[in-house]
Amino acid sequence: MPAPRGGPNVSAQIVPSCSGNRSALGDRHCLLTSSMASRSAACRASWTIGREDASCRGAGWDDDEWHDVTDPVKDAAASRLAAAQAEFDSEVVYLNTASLGLPPRRSLQALQEVLTQWRAGRASPPDYDEPLAAARASYAALVGVDRANVAVGSQVSVFAGLVAAALPDGSEVLTVSGEFTSIVFPFLAQAERGIRVREVPLEHLADAVTARTALVAVSAVQSADGRLADLAALVEAAAATGARVLLDTTQAAGWLPIDASRFAYTTGGGYKWLLAPRGTCFFTVQPELADRLGPAHRRLVRRC
Ligand SMILES: Cc1ncc(COP(=O)(O)O)c(C=O)c1O
Repeated sequence: MPAPRGGPNVSAQIVPSCSGNRSALGDRHCLLTSSMASRSAACRASWTIGREDASCRGAGWDDDEWHDVTDPVKDAAASRLAAAQAEFDSEVVYLNTASLGLPPRRSLQALQEVLTQWRAGRASPPDYDEPLAAARASYAALVGVDRANVAVGSQVSVFAGLVAAALPDGSEVLTVSGEFTSIVFPFLAQAERGIRVREVPLEHLADAVTARTALVAVSAVQSADGRLADLAALVEAAAATGARVLLDTTQAAGWLPIDASRFAYTTGGGYKWLLAPRGTCFFTVQPELADRLGPAHRRLVRRC
């Protein structure tokens, strides 16, 4: 067993198996990685933030695994990590958030409460307004727009359909080869009034914007393979010709910083990196363009 470390308010011991495995977060992270798998979430959280919890003793905690604060910055990072980990309970090593995010403990609890109320005949529609407003405000803050310019809906394809319906007859829509169908098919469905969809490789997207392009429809992160669009180049190219951009944030919002204010429209499903239930979707529109969308969307934006 290595000697305890010294210093102000420091009394730490390192488990031997960690001695060759210190990473960015230092000893604390080493202890986390070596111990977390076998610990209950509650014990893991209370151990990581450095507070001794008597109930953890019975769960197999050894005295020499208690680790006091050695660095406030590292400690804060470890605490946040532990609090986040304590929100999840997957029974497997889960790596499929790009398909379906897992619900955090607090979301599950909120959903269960609402379902119980509904089943008991005690649900009232206005009760849903507050959480809906909170979700809109959170999403607005996440993507850097005013909440008045965020709508909540059910699916990306529905919002893309609203954008498609607002295009003038004969418009050209530029998109990426292999792009997710939800932001391509709603435009193909308007072919009979002359809407044309042109596909180019992702890496040529910005260069392919021309004066004939009315709209560019693209995902910030490609669903098929995770490639990132060059959004700075796209915004510049679109500004030069007056084209608008519909950005799909489904595979991005939640882990990749997005500034939705730079795009005419953005839309993103909530059930992946935002860890929301299926059937949750967000849409943003630049304020000056809101009135040009169809009546259904206008009502949605104004009402909420
Ligand atoms: C990039 C992207 N957009 C949209 C969606 C979902 O579209 P919709 O809400 O129309 O089902 C997905 C789902 O995998 C996706 O990866």
